[in-house]
Amino acid sequence: MTNSAGASADETVAPYGSGGRSAALTKQVRIHHLREMKERSEPWPMLTTYDMYSAAIFEEAGIPVLLVGDSASNNVYGYETSLPVTVDELVPLVRAVTRSTKRALVVADLPFGSYQVSPEQAVRTSVRFMKEGRSHAVKLEGGRRFAPHVEAVVAAGVPVMGHLGFTPQSEHNLGGYRIQGRGSAAAGLVEDALALQRAGAFAVVLEMVPAETAKQITHELSIPTVGIGAGPDCDAQVLVWQDMTGLRTGRVPRFVKRYADLAHVLGTAAAQYAGEVRSRQFPAAEHCFH
Ligand code: KIV
Repeated sequence: MTNSAGASADETVAPYGSGGRSAALTKQVRIHHLREMKERSEPWPMLTTYDMYSAAIFEEAGIPVLLVGDSASNNVYGYETSLPVTVDELVPLVRAVTRSTKRALVVADLPFGSYQVSPEQAVRTSVRFMKEGRSHAVKLEGGRRFAPHVEAVVAAGVPVMGHLGFTPQSEHNLGGYRIQGRGSAAAGLVEDALALQRAGAFAVVLEMVPAETAKQITHELSIPTVGIGAGPDCDAQVLVWQDMTGLRTGRVPRFVKRYADLAHVLGTAAAQYAGEVRSRQFPAAEHCFH
C-alpha cells in the first residue's frame, strides 16, 4: 500500500476520472496537477489526516491532497495548541498516512521550532519528513521572512506549501486567534504570498483571511491558494477532519462546516457495547469459537 511517487505516462491529465470531476483518484497526484486545476478553475479539497483509516477513507473519497498537520498536536496528542508537538511525534503519523494511501499527495507540516532557526534547519527537518515519513511535500508557516527557508527546501528537492494569514504557530505574536490581512494589512499579505511564490512554493494556505483579500491573492498568484476561513474564491479548501466530521465537540470556528456527527455515532456505539457487556448480551453465540 506504500504511496508510490512513481511517474505515470499521462502526467498532464487531471488526477481524477473522466472529465476531471468524478471523485476517484486515478493516479498519483502531482503538484503540477494542482496548478493545472487552478488554470481550469477547478476547486479541489484538502483534509488533514493523521492515521491509516482516515487517510485511506479520504483518499478513496477523492481527496487529492492530505495534510498531516501540526494540528495533530491538539487533535491527536491532547496538547492545548499546535505549539508543543515535535518532529519525532509527527514523523510516525506521516509514515502511517503514506503507508495507507497510494495516490494522494501527502504534505507533512513542519512543527514549531523545527525550521524557524535557519534555512539549513528547514532543509534538515524537511529531509527527515521525506526520508522517514515518505511525504511528498512539506508545509511551513510564514511570509517574506521565510522566503529563504522555502527557497532552500525547494532547492533540496522538496516541494513546499506556504501558510499565511492566521498562522497558529505565531499565535502569541499575533495576539490570539484573529483574522489577518484586513484593511491596510492586505497589501502586506499579498507581498508575502508573492514572495513565497517567487521562492518556489507550489501552493499557499490562507487561514482566516477576509474573502476579498484571499480573492485578490488568488488572482495574483499562478500557484494555488488553499483557503481555511478565507472565502469561496480560493483555488482549494482545507479543513481539519475532526472538525468537519463532528468528532470534535463544542465550539468550532465559524469557517467550519460539520458534515457528520461522529462524536454522537461513536458515543452511541460505545454506550451500546458497554450496556451489552454488562447485560451479558455480548458476546453472543456467533462471536464465540466452538
Ligand atoms: O495543521 C493544520 O491542520 C493546518 C491546517 C489548518 C491548514 O495547518
